[in-house]
Amino acid sequence: MAALVMVFWVWLAFNIPPITPSGRGLSHHDQKRKLASTIPGFISVDCGATLQNYDDSNMFYQTDTRFISAGVNSQISSEFINSSLNMELRTLRYFPEGEQNCYTLKPEQGRSNNYLIRAVFMYGNYDGKNETPVFQLYLGVNSWTTVKDSYVVHEIIYAPLTDAIQVCLVNKDNGTPYISALEVRQLDNSLYQSGNGALALTSRINLGGSNKIIRYADDIYDRKWNHDQKNEWIPVTLAPNLTIETSNNGYKVPDKVLGTAVNVDSGLPPILNAYEIYQHKDFYRLPTIEKDVDAIINIINTYGIIGEWQGDPCFPSSWNILNCSSISPPNIISLNLSSRELTGNIAVSFSNLRTIESLDLSHNQLTGPIPEFLAQLPYLRDLNLMGNQLEDAVPKALMEKHNSGGLTLNLDGNPDLCLVGSCKGKNRKVVAIVAPTVSVVVFIILCALAIYRIREKKRKGIFLMHFS
Ligand SMILES: *[C@@H]1O[C@H](CO)[C@@H](O)[C@H](O)[C@H]1NC(C)=O
Ligand SMILES: *[C@@H]1O[C@H](CO)[C@@H](O)[C@H](O)[C@H]1NC(C)=O
Ligand SMILES: *[C@@H]1O[C@H](CO)[C@@H](O)[C@H](O)[C@H]1NC(C)=O
Ligand SMILES: *[C@@H]1O[C@H](CO)[C@@H](O)[C@H](O)[C@H]1NC(C)=O
Repeated sequence: MAALVMVFWVWLAFNIPPITPSGRGLSHHDQKRKLASTIPGFISVDCGATLQNYDDSNMFYQTDTRFISAGVNSQISSEFINSSLNMELRTLRYFPEGEQNCYTLKPEQGRSNNYLIRAVFMYGNYDGKNETPVFQLYLGVNSWTTVKDSYVVHEIIYAPLTDAIQVCLVNKDNGTPYISALEVRQLDNSLYQSGNGALALTSRINLGGSNKIIRYADDIYDRKWNHDQKNEWIPVTLAPNLTIETSNNGYKVPDKVLGTAVNVDSGLPPILNAYEIYQHKDFYRLPTIEKDVDAIINIINTYGIIGEWQGDPCFPSSWNILNCSSISPPNIISLNLSSRELTGNIAVSFSNLRTIESLDLSHNQLTGPIPEFLAQLPYLRDLNLMGNQLEDAVPKALMEKHNSGGLTLNLDGNPDLCLVGSCKGKNRKVVAIVAPTVSVVVFIILCALAIYRIREKKRKGIFLMHFS
């Protein structure tokens, strides 16, 4: 369940004298901004874009084609575009097909590391309907938030259990899901720890100072610090030559953020420099057993099956070719690839679906023998191989399982299959074809020989015919 705990981080600078009511701001190094493409642990994706580009802080954005195959590119309506609007907000990708569509991001550092994940949505009346869609955002198998505003940024801190971070947009029949940008920033693992859950950002505010957003490269984690100023707050700026000691604080709040503050009573502490508010989300749901996911993806790739199967196979709803158990973590218990134009052998990947109970591969063009491993799948009780071109003897163990009542087996419509006991029939057929062929050849040779001899004997006046 979500929304259980509120987590506050407040940086108070009680002990930093002197304070001047107004100052020239912190003297800071003019950090040369590096392109984000060279920053390890950063992934920035401009959804729906056809060209890579840079945003206002010189952050590099790549197109999204590597991260998703579904959806349609579009641009926001021209009335929303002006020179100050970042490139990544001008394009979007929308998803008219499929209940769930997912971006798969694979940071090099992999699973169990802490990441800041930011998803940006700018509707911009791209479809001319003037109706902001409402849909659900998922992080893997867990519900993150509802997207409902025409411009909104959702941010969450999370350590994924898998190497791939999947950001999924789930259609709730309330408009077509869309997305403008996706950003992943690796954090230090000691920061923002959230146990088995995640921390969804509610607000991150820099108090005092200018109203410009502070982010990378001032903030090495690219947290975006918004500005807030209430009338009753008195802005204060720390002394210009003050060195802020943040080295022993892994949170690395930028000097620019800590260098300004507000106070409610001019000249006197306490002051408040900045704050962040997160909502703890209990991500209790586990993704489908990884071995099953790998197996089903392998099977789909092996046969080149066309379909829109994205995200976790079992959740939010299971893919239409399979069913899952309701235990946690779920596993795949049935697979139906009937009439999917499968060709070639029965792939060995099926043997990795260890909990499969029902497998329907009927009405395809599968060839080769029925593999032994099907008899070793411990829970398989329904196997339909009808209407293929499978060959050779049916494995004995499979027949035994069937005969003992442990397996419903349909092998109809495979003309080249035979049962172990009755495969002789098939062998006899082979002998029957070979034997006449040999006889005919021998007969022709003998005839030729005989004719030759007859001619010889005729010449000699003797008639002899000899068959051996
Ligand atoms: C530019 O467009 C954005 C989004 O449409 C809007 O919020 C902003 O106020 C505009 N800025 C200017 C200078 O017109
Ligand atoms: C800050 O600079 C002023 C003058 O520029 C100087 O008098 C003062 O000692 C400096 N303070 C520190 C802590 O270095
Ligand atoms: C999944 O279960 C539903 C309900 O029992 C059933 O109608 C459907 O055929 C099953 N699908 C597969 C692929 O086994
Ligand atoms: C598999 O799907 C086909 C339709 O594509 C259906 O006729 C068949 O009954 C399904 N098999 C199982 C085991 O549910």
